[in-house]
Amino acid sequence: MKVIKKISGKMKRAYNSYTIGDYMRTAYLSPRRVALITSRLQGKDNVLPVDWHMPLSFSPKLYCISLESGNYSSEMISASGCFAVNFMGAEYEEQMLACGKLSGRNNDKFSLTGLGKVKAEKVDVPLVENALGWLECRLVNTVITGDHTLFIGEVAAEKENEAAEEIYHITNKK
Ligand SMILES: Cc1cc2nc3c(=O)[nH]c(=O)nc-3n(C[C@H](O)[C@H](O)[C@H](O)COP(=O)(O)O)c2cc1C
Repeated sequence: MKVIKKISGKMKRAYNSYTIGDYMRTAYLSPRRVALITSRLQGKDNVLPVDWHMPLSFSPKLYCISLESGNYSSEMISASGCFAVNFMGAEYEEQMLACGKLSGRNNDKFSLTGLGKVKAEKVDVPLVENALGWLECRLVNTVITGDHTLFIGEVAAEKENEAAEEIYHITNKK
């Protein structure tokens, strides 16, 4: 609970300093979880934080991320046809924000931030080491939604990190 309060307080400060108007301010009243999206193309690995992501279906298992058109990750995922969703703990805030300030077009964000990689099981993308959990996705559809595009992935492999600290969540069994 404390962690959630801390993050929502920080987001409020961050977005209050933007000149983004009422639409974004209102849309962000409810805190959103930030995940890292990883991709690989022609031997180059990339990672970006997104807070616009959600599950779409149980059967088939579909998960979507919404990417701004100019992001290098959009190009990489369109061309490679796969991505992974890496759910991170709050202790990775600094690295996640750094990945959101740089483009992978001309930076190696893994080496700049020190984020480690682990091998995926089913798709050719790096997974972020020490994540709480991972979804490996194959791109099955894209939908252009204004200045963003929805990338809809079918989940080819999903895994929880047994070593990660348990967090309060609706799916926790107790
Ligand atoms: C907390 C946070 C959340 C973000 N959420 C999104 C998002 O949902 N979709 C998106 O396209 N960009 C989002 N961004 C911006 C991208 O992460 C940023 O433009 C990044 O530098 C793009 O990297 P790339 O060019 O290597 O793909 C977010 C940034 C931050 C810091």
